[in-house]
Amino acid sequence: MRGTNPYVGYARMDALHALQEPRTDSPFEMSFILISQVKELLFRMVHLEVDEARSRLREDRPEAARRALARAVRSQRVLIGCWESMNALTVDEFLVFRDVLGEASGTQSFMYRLLEFTLGNRNTAMVRSSDFDAFPELRAELDRPSLYDEVLRFLARTGLPVPEQLTTRDPSTPYEPSDEVEKVWLTVHRDPEAHRVLYDLAEQLLEVAYQFSHWRAAHLLVVERMLGGKRGSGGSDGAAWLRTVNEHRFFPELWTMRSAL
Ligand code: HEM
Repeated sequence: MRGTNPYVGYARMDALHALQEPRTDSPFEMSFILISQVKELLFRMVHLEVDEARSRLREDRPEAARRALARAVRSQRVLIGCWESMNALTVDEFLVFRDVLGEASGTQSFMYRLLEFTLGNRNTAMVRSSDFDAFPELRAELDRPSLYDEVLRFLARTGLPVPEQLTTRDPSTPYEPSDEVEKVWLTVHRDPEAHRVLYDLAEQLLEVAYQFSHWRAAHLLVVERMLGGKRGSGGSDGAAWLRTVNEHRFFPELWTMRSAL
């Protein structure tokens, strides 16, 4: 029988609490594993809502899509809040167990990558082929239009001039920002009342992108605090590499068009 009482049995709390296997006696390592697992589950919460938003857009239900994105943002805020807990560790408390991580690194998180792919950052360079095999959802996601692809298709269906090569593009390839799409967003933002639904959707998308970048920025600060300029366990230059990642923006034209407003 699953679990020892209905609460434990329903959500498999027994299995959940059996999933932490620290490799040292340090209580700080246990906290590190717990917060890493919490974050993984939250990546999944955000992914659930982003996927939901994408499905609703395909049905031409922008309001339902916007509500799903608003829920995603709530979980993103909790994700950012998790750094508070991580920052309770001092550098020496972290270094006590850092070596046992070996080559383990957040870059290898399937769920984080799935979320990035679903939102629209289809940079496959960070995923090893063995990871694609171990987590087939990742490769399957590359064959589907991303959330941003669906946004552009939806804009085109409302009659706005999104170039056809963008609404029919190969979704497995990285998206290149487009001047034409920037102009479409400018049209929406120059007259919010005339485009109320699209304007609200755009602002909610920007909020998701903002929260994602905020998470990355907080992660970079934690990394500087714990590692200074040391290399990462995944083999990168550490903070220097993460600084370049921090420049990425989801839904790029929603950011760049602001210069022309
Ligand atoms: C003391 C805490 C942490 C340190 C020092 C740290 C350090 C790093 C470093 C140096 C990288 C760059 C890649 C590498 O060479 O490893 C990285 C990437 C990453 N970390 Fe962390 N990390 C910490 C905590 C976390 C936690 C709790 C999570 C969430 C589960 C996380 C998620 C990620 C992700 C997703 C990436 C890849 C980012 C990307 O590819 O854009 N990190 N981390």
